[in-house]
Amino acid sequence: MEQLRKSYHGTEVLRGIDLTVEPGQVVCLIGASGSGKSTLLRCLNLLETVDDGTVWLADESGAEQDVTDPRVDVDGVRRRVGIVFQAYNLFPHLSVLQNLVLAPTRAAGVSRQAARERALALLERVGLADKAGAYPDALSGGQQQRVALARALAMDPEVLLLDEITSALDPLLVGEVLDVVKGLRADGIAVVMATHEMAFAREASDVVAFLADGEIVEIGPPEQLFDAPRDPRTAAFLARFRS
Ligand SMILES: Nc1ncnc2c1ncn2[C@@H]1O[C@H](COP(=O)(O)OP(=O)(O)OP(=O)(O)O)[C@@H](O)[C@H]1O
Ligand SMILES: [Mg+2]
Repeated sequence: MEQLRKSYHGTEVLRGIDLTVEPGQVVCLIGASGSGKSTLLRCLNLLETVDDGTVWLADESGAEQDVTDPRVDVDGVRRRVGIVFQAYNLFPHLSVLQNLVLAPTRAAGVSRQAARERALALLERVGLADKAGAYPDALSGGQQQRVALARALAMDPEVLLLDEITSALDPLLVGEVLDVVKGLRADGIAVVMATHEMAFAREASDVVAFLADGEIVEIGPPEQLFDAPRDPRTAAFLARFRS
């Protein structure tokens, strides 16, 4: 991302965001409510248009695509950049397996058989192999959110955007969801995650970015951000999480 800017009704809520995310990196966005974390993620998934600046998406060959170009293939970008929200948004009338098979067969041209096999493997991976036939309302919040992650992974994204995926969960269920996120590193998927889970950000991210008022105030490895913040605003924000 280069100098990304976004305003709503004349108020700038992203004020020149520069951020580079490498394959396999977990980048956590932290910051107060209203600092711009969700807006940033939504711009990356083309759910919002940006007013200025560029988002480059590089493929394995190194070729870069400007995804903010108005002529871009939006569905093509969304296949490469998945997003999971706080509310699980599973299709309630479809079984867990059907939830996972739908997009790959409809939008990515994968055969039913291949999509099914991949879905079952992903369910195994998120610890829900036995829930393939269940409907979302029969699952706990943590289970639903793991299905939502598996559903995003079923599209084989290169980048996964996660917006507060644990904030609607019972604290006891947070760990099981975050364990799935930790496992993504091994696949080379880049993860950009807005979170209020400071313990997770410290333990599992490669880079932490602290946002305030639409700007990245400070960015660096978690040890730096949490143990030796350079900006007084970072220190003040983090102090709220220590009691
Ligand atoms: N669709 C919208 N229309 C108008 N203003 C918006 C819209 N979406 C977000 N905003 C404003 O943009 C700013 C950034 O909001 P955003 O949702 O990105 O914050 P956030 O960091 O995700 O906060 P939280 O931690 O509460 O989720 C806020 O001032 C918000 O009110
Ligand atoms: Mg938000």
